[in-house]
Amino acid sequence: MTERTLIIIKPDAVQRHLIGRIVTRFENKGLKLIAGKFLQAGTEQAGELYAVHKGKDFYERLVRYISSAPILVTVWQADGAIAMARKLLGDTFGYDAKPGTIRGDFGCSQTCNLVHGSDSPESAEFEIGLFFKPEEMVDYEFADAEWLYNSKE
Ligand code: RTP
Ligand code: MG
Repeated sequence: MTERTLIIIKPDAVQRHLIGRIVTRFENKGLKLIAGKFLQAGTEQAGELYAVHKGKDFYERLVRYISSAPILVTVWQADGAIAMARKLLGDTFGYDAKPGTIRGDFGCSQTCNLVHGSDSPESAEFEIGLFFKPEEMVDYEFADAEWLYNSKE
């Protein structure tokens, strides 16, 4: 099923000059970029993004981290995009994440784990709505879609 997922290049990734290398992972896989915004989130917006964690001991630290510096907020589309993107991210903590994943290759921190990805269709819809209006997403066909997705099989 075609899905959309919110991927955020987090403050540490921007500060560590990793934007291009991270975005390349999603491009290489064949996910389609349909929206993007570079911004610094306020504490209110960061708190909403991670509202599911409100009350947990790391919540305040998480909100401070996400709102501490600019981020690149993107939306990617593909069949099964949500699970595919989570695999590209790797496990939550850098020190657990496997080599070959973004978190596994570029960091070893618990909080500063470089990238966010939606974890379900419901959270993707909610999270995308925090940053984008429907008309800000641009759907289109890749020129090589038949080769990429086996659609002629
Ligand atoms: P994300 O939502 O950013 O894609 O990360 P995730 O699903 O892999 O992990 P989640 O459990 O949703 O946690 C959200 C972010 O909070 C920070 N975190 N710190 N125990 C801790 O100190 C702790 N646990 C989580 C990480 O930045 C994590 O990505
Ligand atoms: Mg999460």
